[in-house]
Amino acid sequence: MRKKIVAGNWKLNNTLEEGLKLASEITNMVTDELRDEVTVVLGTPYIHLSAVGKLTENVEKLHVAAQDCSTHESGAYTGEISVSMIQSTGASYVIIGHSERREYHNETNEQLATKVELALKADLTPIFCCGESLNIRESGKHERFVSAQITESLFHLTEEQMSKVVIAYEPIWAIGTGVTASSDQAQEMHKALRAHIASKFGNTIADEASILYGGSCKPTNANELFSQPDIDGGLIGGASLKSRDFMDIINSF
Ligand code: 13P
Repeated sequence: MRKKIVAGNWKLNNTLEEGLKLASEITNMVTDELRDEVTVVLGTPYIHLSAVGKLTENVEKLHVAAQDCSTHESGAYTGEISVSMIQSTGASYVIIGHSERREYHNETNEQLATKVELALKADLTPIFCCGESLNIRESGKHERFVSAQITESLFHLTEEQMSKVVIAYEPIWAIGTGVTASSDQAQEMHKALRAHIASKFGNTIADEASILYGGSCKPTNANELFSQPDIDGGLIGGASLKSRDFMDIINSF
């Protein structure tokens, strides 16, 4: 069965105290309200991972994610955080290749391929992000572009490794802009990506892959997006910073 996942990406928001307050509100809501087939992930800044992990450890469907990881396993790389460090906090997911990291930190598909492999080796579930800019969408080459991101960062994996990867399609033009991809646009891309995965890894792995949508997803549009046959949940930015909105998105399934 394909997993339904709603993941929050807090980005550069919340002090430790604010983050713990938000995580504790979400923990209570998830405990009281969650229908059991949805997996919920909180993508916090590194400094929150351990404390949020402790707070949520007894809630089976609630997991913690880092927002990035180093391409190195250890060594003289000041300021970097390795997959084993993330794993040691109790986090079990890691967001890899967010468009903000690609854009502001020049992350390449090749580096992301290394990060995905390291994450899997450390038993972390990668949430691999892909998505096109407005220019590429307008040129009509968006499917080719996003498929190439997947080819270059994921097609070196074994079938077993690929079966553990979660994909997040986040059109850059929809992130933080209030402009959401229409459910038809999102479904079309998700379907194409699933077919692309099938072309390399076969139908079973493609059918089981969770492909999340991200980009101005909110309580008012989540239901329509999540009702599409190839959309298995969301990666939520702004709306994950408010516990009620985030919970309403989770309950949109
Ligand atoms: P918004 O939901 O704020 O548009 O952000 C989406 C995103 O980038 C999640 O990773």
